[in-house]
Amino acid sequence: MTIVKLNDKNQSKTDLKLVVAKNAKAVSKNKELSKELKQRGFTFEFGKFTLVGNTIVAGTDKLKEVEDWRELSYKALKYASTIFTEDFSISIEDDIKQTDLQFLEGLYLSTYKFDKYKTKKKTQKITVYVSSGDKKTKETITTAQKKVQAQFLVRDLVNTMPEEANSETISKQIKEHFKDVEGVKVKLYKKKDLEKLNMNCHLAVNRASKFEPITVKIEYTPKKVTKNTKHYVIVGKGLTYDSGGLSIKPSAHMTTMKADKGGAMTCFGVADVISQLKGTNKVTFYLGLAENMISSDSYRPDDILTAKNGTTIHIENTDAEGRLVLFDNLVLAQEENKDIDEIYSIATLTGAAVYQFSDFAAGMVGENEDMKHKLKKLGIIEDEIWCNAELHKFMRKFIDDDTADITNTSKGYGMGCQSAGMFLSRAIEEENIKKYLHLDIAGPAFVKEAFGTNPKNATGWGVRSLYELFK
Ligand code: BES
Ligand code: ZN
Ligand code: ZN
Repeated sequence: MTIVKLNDKNQSKTDLKLVVAKNAKAVSKNKELSKELKQRGFTFEFGKFTLVGNTIVAGTDKLKEVEDWRELSYKALKYASTIFTEDFSISIEDDIKQTDLQFLEGLYLSTYKFDKYKTKKKTQKITVYVSSGDKKTKETITTAQKKVQAQFLVRDLVNTMPEEANSETISKQIKEHFKDVEGVKVKLYKKKDLEKLNMNCHLAVNRASKFEPITVKIEYTPKKVTKNTKHYVIVGKGLTYDSGGLSIKPSAHMTTMKADKGGAMTCFGVADVISQLKGTNKVTFYLGLAENMISSDSYRPDDILTAKNGTTIHIENTDAEGRLVLFDNLVLAQEENKDIDEIYSIATLTGAAVYQFSDFAAGMVGENEDMKHKLKKLGIIEDEIWCNAELHKFMRKFIDDDTADITNTSKGYGMGCQSAGMFLSRAIEEENIKKYLHLDIAGPAFVKEAFGTNPKNATGWGVRSLYELFK
């Protein structure tokens, strides 16, 4: 747990001090510290830390990008935790200015721990004192804290096993979470509702699960709606577990599939931070919750399903289930919202995206170059890399089918992320096609190794950029 406090009398008594310095000149006022650093041959390079007495010196030479400040404070606090393993306090000696937000986010991000399944839990309280105690800093602290808290909420849920985090428990938690939150309405569509709404694909995917298929709709409306207020709609894939179904996955691929709810959980996180920080735009979230399991009632390879908009789909692989759940929910989202400015889908959708973009980046599939450009640009500052997955006309035949309108399994070799996006675009109404962007976060949502400010396993990746996009 980290507490960030503004300028305070106790500051002089903190266990540690953090000095951020670009070169020897920056610390020249402190003669003793200067002398010691010189003796040690400290290079002030970004990423280098050293402890002198109770002062941690963090080098910022060659630190050029705004987003690197997030990593700097993250690493500085991690370094401090190796010195003090119990509770401690630390004061930041320098005024933090234009990079405040990133710096503060890094401080909060450094404290994430997932110990739900550990019998011995260790809690460490870290109090950080920042020295410029003005109103703006105070607001920035709140923004950083809320953005990071939302990310932690996503991480905790994604890291939780399906027996505990399933459609029923998650939808209940979301309802409870927003109960008294101003501007937020939550509506649940349970199995009976989905049947009435002809969401046959969503229902089929969930047929072998002991939990109900559920769509959670979260509507955020700002206090002031003007003609400049935008309406963003986003649909998230919430597969609380993906065994592959009858087209069963190899066991090694199955062990990370509690993370297949990453897209929907990111939606929950974004809704949380948008409502807490009083975003100025309208945002409607649809979380398609289901579980892809195996039983005598499983949907089968070679079944033909009729989606909510009447499109017939040939199931050639039951492991390509996410696009089926998203399909029906995208149709529902467009039926219910006739004033859409932009519509997104977000999902851990394809293994192909992991190969194409690695664990460090996500894929974007869509026909609107401005939308992609905007997100890519925002993502750079958030340290969330969004890459364009190019579509081209020769790929259209990838989803053509002899028996039904389309197949759920790409006929082509390669570009699996794009063909999944192309499949989803069949759920998009003509007038919305240029307003639609599909996001595949299969790589960065749940990672094999820690990187940047992301721990191993669930990262909550995407929350920061989507908040900045929708706010
Ligand atoms: N949930 C998986 C995609 C995935 C893979 C997410 C690895 C995260 C890490 C998805 O449902 C899936 O299995 N997709 C198949 C589709 C194929 C059968 C057309 C895939 O990508 O292999
Ligand atoms: Zn699958
Ligand atoms: Zn899946």
